[in-house]
Amino acid sequence: MIRRQFIRLVGGGTVAAATAGLSGCMSGAMPALALEAWNGPAASETEPRRRALAYAITAPNPHNLQPWLVDLREPNVITLRTDPKRVLPETDPFGRQIMVGHGAFIELLVIALAEQGLRADVQLWPQGEMPTELKDWRAAMKLPVARISIAQGAQKDALFAHILNRHTVKVNFDIAKPVSESNLQGILAAGGSSRMQCGGTVQEQRLAPLRKLCLDSAFVEMRTPRTNLESIRLVRVGPEEILANRDGISINSPMVRALTAFGQFDRSQPPPADSTAEKKFIERFDGTSKTAMGFVWITGKNTRHDQVEAGRMYVRLQLQATASGIGMHPMSQALQEFPEMKAQYEQVHQLVLSASAPRSASDQTVQMLCRIGYVPEPVTATPRRALDQFIVTA
Ligand SMILES: Cc1cc2nc3c(=O)[nH]c(=O)nc-3n(C[C@H](O)[C@H](O)[C@H](O)COP(=O)(O)O)c2cc1C
Repeated sequence: MIRRQFIRLVGGGTVAAATAGLSGCMSGAMPALALEAWNGPAASETEPRRRALAYAITAPNPHNLQPWLVDLREPNVITLRTDPKRVLPETDPFGRQIMVGHGAFIELLVIALAEQGLRADVQLWPQGEMPTELKDWRAAMKLPVARISIAQGAQKDALFAHILNRHTVKVNFDIAKPVSESNLQGILAAGGSSRMQCGGTVQEQRLAPLRKLCLDSAFVEMRTPRTNLESIRLVRVGPEEILANRDGISINSPMVRALTAFGQFDRSQPPPADSTAEKKFIERFDGTSKTAMGFVWITGKNTRHDQVEAGRMYVRLQLQATASGIGMHPMSQALQEFPEMKAQYEQVHQLVLSASAPRSASDQTVQMLCRIGYVPEPVTATPRRALDQFIVTA
């Protein structure tokens, strides 16, 4: 998180505040324990699967819910399931984005195993796919997303070097530094999927309507109380809350902590229309949308298999962008499948695919839409839970 005159909620809204006098009395740095994952596996971790998992848990995922459960009881196998409690019913009612986050986890796992000379055979949905409706997920929670069998012999992947430097850039990009077509093509070349397609643009005439769509769709999410509230409820303020959860939208700035302590940051309801907080939220999305120096997208069909594959591709693109010094930031609002977003969902498909929004899982679907650009300031890591918390034993 980066402290400003107002508070940016990572992946969510904004809270306005005066900063004067507060910054001296407490540190705004994120508690070190919450960021321990970014140091890579501890020296004491010698089991190869656990070492690889220590990298996989840094995967990008919606609202940093970290919805992964891993079973290591079968030798040389990693069985990945989803945690049905870690979902976003309002903004991701079919769990599509959650599945994209599983794909990112799997890809980092495969890359980190290969780094140890281990080949991963990834079998998706070995017992069938998750149901379409989130409400049915709890009953289906035993269905593995993937069974990953491990054997000797793998080629290392150069993207491994960038795993612990990968962060989602949520600040305004440097508008003085355009992204070149060749840099864009370099990022897209890392996609590595035969199933999904990736594309992008740095052409001004295509950027303009996509920037506007990002802002318009952010408005829809913000003005729909239940979707706005879904983000607000995931905000963790201050070291105690951050350390107790190590997920969600973490804020440790002195001003938000003070506001929270004085009961001025109400997380039980969305900020009122035209309030300062709402204006700051709009300012934030205005900034991030308008400073999009390019866009990258991932498209394909929309089965559970495709959603996971989209995540595998997404993290490869983001790692390659990291390697090139370019920030990549998903702007997922227009891809959210709640009724109020219908017009923007249609529009994103028109702008990216020149086609209507999908009507079935076999129709072409925009799975990810991300802005890209150069980052003017260092980006801070987001928390991750401790490795053991992802490992199921029963
Ligand atoms: C499917 C998916 C959708 C996402 N959508 C957004 C988004 O709309 N806005 C945003 O700021 N970040 C978005 N993110 C990024 C996450 O917020 C981010 O990965 C998470 O907070 C962890 O931070 P990190 O990527 O820096 O480790 C998305 C990530 C994924 C995988």
